[in-house]
Amino acid sequence: MEYGPAPESQKEAQAWLDQHGRKFGLFIDNQWSDSGELFASTNPADGKPLADLTQASADDVDRAVAAARRAQPAWAALGGHGRAKILYAIARLMQKHARLFAVLETLDNGKTIRETRDADLPLVARHFYHHAGWAQLLDEEFPNHRPVGVVGQIVPWNFPLLMLAWKIAPALAAGNTVVFKPAEFTPLTALLFAEICVQAGVPAGVVNIVTGDGRTGEAIVKHEGIDKLAFTGSTEVGRLIREATAGTGKKLSLELGGKSPYIVFDDADIDAAVEGLVDSIWFNQGQVCCAGSRLLVQESVEERFLKKLKARMDNLRLGSPLDKSMDIGALVDPIQRQRIHGLVEAARAEGCEIYQPSACEIPADGSWFPPTLITGASTSAAVAQAEIFGPVLVAMSFRTPAEAVQLANNTVYGLAACVWSENISLALDVAPQIKAGVVWINTANQFDAACGFGGYKESGYGREGGREGLYEYLVPVSEDARPALPPVAKVSSNASPKAAAPASDPFAIDRTAKLYIGGKQARPDGAYSRAIHGADGAFLGDIGEGSRKDIRNAVEAAHKAAGWTKATAHNRAQVLYYIAENLAARGREFADRIAAQTGSQGGADSAEKEVQASIERLFYWAAWADKYDGAAHQPPMHGITVALNEAIGVIGIVCPNENPLLGFISLVAPAIAVGNRVVAVPSEAHPLSATDLYQVFDTSDLPGGVVNIVTGSADELARTLATHADIDAVWRHDGSAEGCAEVERLSAGSLKRTWTGGAKGRDWFSVQQAAGRTVLQHVTQVKNIWIPYGV
Ligand code: NAI
Repeated sequence: MEYGPAPESQKEAQAWLDQHGRKFGLFIDNQWSDSGELFASTNPADGKPLADLTQASADDVDRAVAAARRAQPAWAALGGHGRAKILYAIARLMQKHARLFAVLETLDNGKTIRETRDADLPLVARHFYHHAGWAQLLDEEFPNHRPVGVVGQIVPWNFPLLMLAWKIAPALAAGNTVVFKPAEFTPLTALLFAEICVQAGVPAGVVNIVTGDGRTGEAIVKHEGIDKLAFTGSTEVGRLIREATAGTGKKLSLELGGKSPYIVFDDADIDAAVEGLVDSIWFNQGQVCCAGSRLLVQESVEERFLKKLKARMDNLRLGSPLDKSMDIGALVDPIQRQRIHGLVEAARAEGCEIYQPSACEIPADGSWFPPTLITGASTSAAVAQAEIFGPVLVAMSFRTPAEAVQLANNTVYGLAACVWSENISLALDVAPQIKAGVVWINTANQFDAACGFGGYKESGYGREGGREGLYEYLVPVSEDARPALPPVAKVSSNASPKAAAPASDPFAIDRTAKLYIGGKQARPDGAYSRAIHGADGAFLGDIGEGSRKDIRNAVEAAHKAAGWTKATAHNRAQVLYYIAENLAARGREFADRIAAQTGSQGGADSAEKEVQASIERLFYWAAWADKYDGAAHQPPMHGITVALNEAIGVIGIVCPNENPLLGFISLVAPAIAVGNRVVAVPSEAHPLSATDLYQVFDTSDLPGGVVNIVTGSADELARTLATHADIDAVWRHDGSAEGCAEVERLSAGSLKRTWTGGAKGRDWFSVQQAAGRTVLQHVTQVKNIWIPYGV
């Protein structure tokens, strides 16, 4: 069937641009500044300029941050209802002007009007409505939390307005003010949104919009007045931002790239799976961070599936994005076209087969790329590993579910995945095994304001949407009460042999604490030990001087203990109770050891309290182990979205120096309670409370490799943990500000999650500061599994 052209009118959008003289300044403090250094935004479908925009300088960013800072207290003080009314007004106005926004977005970005009109705009309005609701409920649902303050937000060009909504709605709901930067390719809808803010009654300074390229982004990232950064974009820039913010105390959420698998089992509804794939990889020309860009199809149906897919590709219509019957629009910029072309041609040169519909006509002007299917690529080929960010699908086959999972996880990314099977039992078995923040079962590219979205691994951290998204814009008030620690006294590494143990004990036999790796005591690889002295200078014993090699062994042991993650929560709780029981049986001895090491004020009395509190903390985390349930969201779809709180994997933990037993237990117990495995570096100054635990662990049914302990230099071992590629998160809580900054900087390599205490300590006895849901958020990551149903 031939379609006639069905163009959407661009009259109103062009009139809006004309009304502004096609030249825009910055939106700061509800005022439009004069335009400064300019750059052009063009229509990618024909290459023609649309308007000139201002490249915001560092001074402009400074003005924007100052305006946001001034406005923040009053915005927070407006209260939940006050903010809810304004967010509600924004949602209403977005709906009223939806068509203008949709056309302007299509002109600026090149995506089809079908998508901007039917997907982007409805989701934008829904986001503001949903977060108006969160503002209303904030005090009740998030007691003891405060807004972070001034938030810097930087977004890419693929969903300009939707990313704006994902960023601004939760920030405002939680009482923050924002400095927002749209991408340089697509700034226009953000500027139209600025006008909506004024109409909706957003007070001056609450929303500030600065346009510009990466230089403006950098000025936001580096600005000292920013309390939190929320970034969506490339993994490369995400890394730069992690490095630039290391040690600054800025809160950070990163939503980065992906290479998401699209798994089709042989019992899938093949026609539906082909349609889903069209949505998954050709939606927005494949310029989608969660695009299903790797097709994994079961061998037995591969031929049939690819045949149907190619037939469907032949019917995709590429052309004017404003034409309502087009499936594929223009790429955002010729630069993207060149990049995609380069990757596809490299695959061709390597012998891959490239399929592109022969009838697909590419318009003469503008920036276009036809739908493309690549077969015959090896799993390590660039096209199978790199985020292409274009309409290019790479197909591979698998034989068994186990192989599908292995291939799906064979990527540094972990943003999303699709699983197609009519066997719900198989689909729900596979979904939790895929390391990705979102899994769609028998559907693709579904989003909703109530369901968290965000990645595992190098796809970043933090979630957008729903309750977990709001936590990104809040701080527990208990954080403000954290005590200052005295500067860390450097513990000199004293490898020289010491006088033997005090002779007063006739039964004294030299006992050197080794390391604890894979459930066994292990000599340090370097065969060095260091002497530990008590508060009164007396020699207490030697400990092993752990090294890089020991950490490697410990990480390997932790990975082998993956069965712990699959164990039932009930089982994990039992082990924690058992550890508590065995610790209690030796309570006196542990108290004496604490007192001897720290000379803790209050002497044996306070050491006893520390042991008591450690036993209680073990009970506390045993209690939580089987209670940190996820949620079942009901987005506007016939189905449910199950939000699971999953373990992160292997966590490297540098424990506090003070409270050597309680500090250690307070960090290790929650991590293992929810199924993580840990490599812990105990208090450098007082490590013997941790090494005394080896026998407690051995007698408590804790499987080998779940807790590994490497003693030695906190600085050196932290560095190794932070750079180790197979560790998923690294924490440092020993009060070393430089050490924490270094961990954050080094974590950028593989984008590990971090939790660092900076120079401040924590009252380890306080549940508010050392336990609770904030800790639960550090030990888990949320996976949203979308399960539509119906026949
Ligand atoms: P990008 O990451 O460079 O740009 C995203 C945003 O960050 C833009 O607003 C940009 O101005 C800003 N930015 C750039 N450098 C910055 C810096 N040093 N500090 C702070 N902000 C900075 O992405 P780009 O260049 O537009 O696209 C390149 C590739 O990145 C794409 O081909 C794609 O593979 C990937 N990408 C992934 C996205 C995702 O959602 N996962 C979105 C956009 C791009």
